[in-house]
Amino acid sequence: MCGIVGVLGQHEVGPILVEALKRLEYRGYDSAGIATVNGGRLDRRRAIGKLANLSDLLVHEPLAGKAGIGHTRWATHGAPTVANAHPHRAGKVAVVHNGIIENFRELRQELEAVGLIPETETDTETIVLLTRHYMDQGQDPRTAAASTLGRLKGAFALCFLFEGEDDLMIAARRGSPLAIGHGDGEMYVGSDAIALAPLTDRITYLEEGDRAEVTRAGVVIFDAAGRLANRAETRIEREATRVEKAGYKHFMAKEIAEQPVVIADALRHYLAQGGTALSLPEEIDFTGVDRISLVACGTAYYACSVAKYWFEQIAGLPVDVDIASEFRYREPPLSPTSWALFVSQSGETADTLAALRHAHEQVAKVVSVVNVATSSIARESDVALPSLAGVEVGVASTKAFTCQLTVLAVLALKAGVDRGRLDPGALARHLSSLASLPGLMNHALGLESEIATIAGQLSEAQDVLFLGRGPMFPLALEGALKLKEISYIHAEGYASGELKHGPIALIDSHVPVIVMAPRDGLFDKTVSNMQEVMARHGQVLLISDAGGIAEGGTGVWNSLTLPTADPFVAPILFALPAQMLAYHTAIAKGTDVDQPRNLAKSVTVE
Ligand code: G6P
Repeated sequence: MCGIVGVLGQHEVGPILVEALKRLEYRGYDSAGIATVNGGRLDRRRAIGKLANLSDLLVHEPLAGKAGIGHTRWATHGAPTVANAHPHRAGKVAVVHNGIIENFRELRQELEAVGLIPETETDTETIVLLTRHYMDQGQDPRTAAASTLGRLKGAFALCFLFEGEDDLMIAARRGSPLAIGHGDGEMYVGSDAIALAPLTDRITYLEEGDRAEVTRAGVVIFDAAGRLANRAETRIEREATRVEKAGYKHFMAKEIAEQPVVIADALRHYLAQGGTALSLPEEIDFTGVDRISLVACGTAYYACSVAKYWFEQIAGLPVDVDIASEFRYREPPLSPTSWALFVSQSGETADTLAALRHAHEQVAKVVSVVNVATSSIARESDVALPSLAGVEVGVASTKAFTCQLTVLAVLALKAGVDRGRLDPGALARHLSSLASLPGLMNHALGLESEIATIAGQLSEAQDVLFLGRGPMFPLALEGALKLKEISYIHAEGYASGELKHGPIALIDSHVPVIVMAPRDGLFDKTVSNMQEVMARHGQVLLISDAGGIAEGGTGVWNSLTLPTADPFVAPILFALPAQMLAYHTAIAKGTDVDQPRNLAKSVTVE
């Protein structure tokens, strides 16, 4: 959370910083700010709320300078006020920070004892005060920054700027990602390559513990032990960093609509011979694997929860599914012949990364499914499988989810083959149902206007329940998560069979109940649960296929007819109406779809 950027340029950096921050706003939008050095003079501008407020401020109070740093904030320590907004400044130093300084209370006491009194509630302010302290003692900026970094505990990506230094930024990474960009007589720092994409495609990723001294002439990097380090410069594909709404009203709408295309891309990548054979790296061999732990957060966790059904049913492979923040502190014993599999869109989620590090020494293999191929989780895995969704900007994950599911489905098939549970005929049937997905999704997208009408009514509700059975249970959880994330309507997902054990008490004529039930082997059971809801005047929206609606649709409040899909791929298809319902309900309520309150897309603090 929080996005940081730094530019040592040849032109005025104010507008460049704001443009880069726009591309980082997915990391938080509680406040934004920039600082520049102009003729040696350090100055800053900050505004609460969205970046647009900072842009407005800069119109009235422009900030000149060809060297500058910028920040977009997701508040951790201290409310979203101007005083708490970054860049923070003390004396001749300003800093932007992503992460949490865990020992800031001790440091504050120490600073107060020498007369340096904090003026904000933030942990970040201790960084500038400490650097100022070292500079007051005679250290030059480079040394003072290094001394400060040596005192910090916690997770951070930082960029320092100094009064009197028009050609210097110090960048540092511990726990949070940071990229250095190389330009023509210009240098850049950014939380990710996407922020820097309009400026350069030449990127050096800092490694854990690195400190970088950046000038317009280039970058000198020191590793965690203070030794000179050689970090490779890579070229990023500009196309892969394109961030545009392409005519859509919201990124979320665009990302929902892109799903048939990105799923087809993922299938082309993971299948060979025209989709009739699996194509995975040779390290993906499940022979001898006795168990896998699937670990993730948020929507990615629900993708893992669906995959549990696949691995168990198709491959007979026992699976544990964990929320990363629980897994990392529970410290579960892991078998040395097991695998741990981490799923993450960003590849930077702090809890998922910590869980991965916990598993690393204990299991036979650490595998990840990640959308950002250069991310920390990808780099620290034995095998990283790209989910190939392309850049996802909307805070509520959509296409990344269905791509994660697609890769996990392919992995489950591989496990089935390796463990002798899937004969060639069954594999062929499963592969052909995967191949049908893009077409099925296109049909599902055609339900948009029907869904918008239903969503208009849904937007009046205070509470909504989602029900599903088998692999549709995690889909019910995901449907509820999507709805609460962007429409702020309270929603819960339940396993249909669990309804009688409590949630049925919530049912009355004001509570819409969304039942996600393809006409599969569990359909009749789910319909019985649905009847129990209707007997108590619950308003049921049945999402099924034509067979399901014909059989179970009598007396429901509303229904949505999806194309008939093989049960194997139905969970991937059913994600679409759930996403579209949430999207249109949010539109009806007038909420901020792409940047819902209190949330951030990349959660780099625990
Ligand atoms: C945040 C996002 C979710 C995402 C979760 C996990 O909460 O808003 O959309 O599912 O983080 O993120 P990851 O990048 O690890 O998939």
